Amino acid sequence: MNEPLALPRLVFIDREPASATFADEVRDGLAAMPKRLSPKWFYDTLGSRLFDAICALPAYYPTRLEMALFARHGEAMAACAGTGRVLVELGSGAGEKVRHLLPHLEAAAYVAVDISRDALLSAARSQAEETPLLPVFAVCDDFASGLELPAAIPDGPRLYFYPGSSIGNFTPDEAIALLSPLATPGCGLLIGVDLIKDVAVMEMAYDDPLGVTAAFNRNLLVRMNRELGGNFDLPRFRHLARFDAGHGRIEMHLESGVAQDVKVAGRVFHFGAGERLHTESSYKYRLDDFTALALKAGWRRRGCWTDADGWFAELYFEA
Ligand code: AVI
Repeated sequence: MNEPLALPRLVFIDREPASATFADEVRDGLAAMPKRLSPKWFYDTLGSRLFDAICALPAYYPTRLEMALFARHGEAMAACAGTGRVLVELGSGAGEKVRHLLPHLEAAAYVAVDISRDALLSAARSQAEETPLLPVFAVCDDFASGLELPAAIPDGPRLYFYPGSSIGNFTPDEAIALLSPLATPGCGLLIGVDLIKDVAVMEMAYDDPLGVTAAFNRNLLVRMNRELGGNFDLPRFRHLARFDAGHGRIEMHLESGVAQDVKVAGRVFHFGAGERLHTESSYKYRLDDFTALALKAGWRRRGCWTDADGWFAELYFEA
């Protein structure tokens, strides 16, 4: 007898995170003092690929450690989170991490949410092919200012999955604002958090010897040149990554080597010699501090898994 035919079930919902806002944010951010841009603009097609390459770097410990936690404790995490939920992955990217959990979760549906359309679609397609019985939804959206899932997503208790310590790219107040509305009764949150450790280790992760992170950072200039008619001269900007102990965060900057004027998004901006454009903050936490932050957002900790050195944690919370 033939096997029953299972067709992959994939629904793509494009909420069209407006590209007009890129020009607006560049105009505002480069006019600000100090100059700044949101890290969400890193993830064009090349930026997403460079980020995948970062995740494979020996110096970038978060991905390696988190994958090892999934391999070792994935079953326990799923047991804690329970089965039959709608699994919503925030910032799903290449969709590698969820593969470790899905086999244990018996999810009712999988919803991948990401701002990067190309990466989202190719990951969701492979996932739908791999698990043809699981309804897969790919939602292209920028959830930085709040996650609003389309009506097509099935109801039912949700398990939010936010791996990779991406929560660290928000300030603590922004993190609370993002997590609070998700804390509705019956929902769970499995989240990766990068912990404070030796400064040299953290700085090396964001300034790797191969220069991949530098390329990832400077690709923002390439993107502004291409999409917003900019004339940034790349050799005139250098990549910087420093731990700011006061804020408990790694900061990435692009530093202008000379005084120069740059045209982009229809305006001219002056950079002084040594002036910096702040492109990313990546907050690192103590376990107790993150647990307290989550509690403020309405989440109570129920599970905690860390590596032997205590560098990275995967935490499970219930609303
Ligand atoms: C996506 N995010 C969690 C990464 C981080 O570690 O903050 C982005 C990144 N930036 C430089 N390297 C990786």
